Amino acid sequence: MKDLRENWSSNLGFVLAATGSAIGLGNLWKFPFITWKNDGGAFVLIYLVCIIAVGLPIMMAELLVGRKTQKSAVGAMRETIGPSWGWVGTWGVMAGFVILSYYAVVAGWSIFYLFQTLQWSVSGFPTQANMGGLFADLAANGTMQTALSGTFMFLTVGVVYFGVASGIEKTARLCLPALFVILLLLLFSSLTMEGSGEALAFLFRPNFSELDSAAVLEALGHSFFTLSLGMGTMIVYGSYVARNRSIVNAAGSIVVLDTVIAIIASIIMFSVIFTVPGMPEQVDGSAVGMLFISLPQLFYEVVPFGVVLAPAFYLLVALAALTSTISLLEVVVSYFIDQRKMERSRATLLSGACIYVFTFLSGMSFGASTWLSSFELFEGKAGFFATLDHFASNWALPLGGLLITLGVGWFMSTKDTEAELVATGSPRWFSYKAWLFSVRFIAPAAVAAILIAVIFLGKDFS
Ligand code: PHE
Repeated sequence: MKDLRENWSSNLGFVLAATGSAIGLGNLWKFPFITWKNDGGAFVLIYLVCIIAVGLPIMMAELLVGRKTQKSAVGAMRETIGPSWGWVGTWGVMAGFVILSYYAVVAGWSIFYLFQTLQWSVSGFPTQANMGGLFADLAANGTMQTALSGTFMFLTVGVVYFGVASGIEKTARLCLPALFVILLLLLFSSLTMEGSGEALAFLFRPNFSELDSAAVLEALGHSFFTLSLGMGTMIVYGSYVARNRSIVNAAGSIVVLDTVIAIIASIIMFSVIFTVPGMPEQVDGSAVGMLFISLPQLFYEVVPFGVVLAPAFYLLVALAALTSTISLLEVVVSYFIDQRKMERSRATLLSGACIYVFTFLSGMSFGASTWLSSFELFEGKAGFFATLDHFASNWALPLGGLLITLGVGWFMSTKDTEAELVATGSPRWFSYKAWLFSVRFIAPAAVAAILIAVIFLGKDFS
């Protein structure tokens, strides 16, 4: 039969693909920066609590809905929870569309820095480098933005076109091991640096007097983004898992790997930054600044084996971004395949092309187009890119996550959810009762707090 659903070729392949979705710019670009902004230690601890108490249970909820129905977000929500819940799936598809469109812009920059550092490594780092200027020129150059993000979108479409096992899974099998090796090399190199002691203390010595309630909500909001939750990615990836496989174990592995990688990335970046006197004051500016302005130069000036590690680092960023962009595109593509009965090839090309229109507009909003750069829908968030990021992190993911956890916790029978989580065997650390308590009470209350803070207190988590 033609429409027999494609599955992952193995459990490891699934875990790698889902981990690849989770590990991305969120780990390498956002996490170190928000940890920096929130003064480390206590924030890291709060983040871990959010990941375990809220992120992990919702990850299981999404995976179980997908595996049970073998359908993508819209069909899965409709079938497990109720006909009107299809809207939650549609909301997720829209979120995937939006996130991919602006994510591809930053992913494109990683390609630029990969080639730029390769060139420096071969021909030498310029003595009077102006890294801020280099980045500003890139950002405002419409042609470059279009070409770089276009290349990234092309790669993403190229992978998703080949389907679940031969496209997505194969790419994850290649990229993730490479990513782990590069990250470990960088970690070893950074631990030999002078600043590493200070970096470790910054990350692991909690100082609760520095922490405010906004930081708690920021940690919570980020746990959605970094685990790819709240928009149906894990529903879709779960829908390709065979019914006899345990999802509890898989969810545990994905969450642990994602968290470990975010922490390793922070150790690397902070070791470099603390090694250079005066650097901590300089990086205060922005997340983009840390990754694309401060780090490139430091690789050549202070990092042992920096000549090799600089291009390796930007390759790492690009690979991590790719395994995330394919999951974002898959949410949109699987909607067209399942709900609109389209062929995969057509669905992929069509979605890729539509999303790219928004990518183009985002890329133009760093100076290339005055109108797009000053476009302001949310107060204080100037630019098309910033608007989309704000919408996704503050609205789309928390609202999607809230509805998914309420739906699974309150509107699915406990008989069904228990069967999904426990029948295929669950590890000893797992307690169904604790899971149910989280998806019914803890997760909804926590996520509602984010939305209340955004709506009534004017907070911003992007
Ligand atoms: N988890 C990805 C990251 O950390 C981003 C992402 C969000 C991917 C939502 C898919 C869905 O970069």
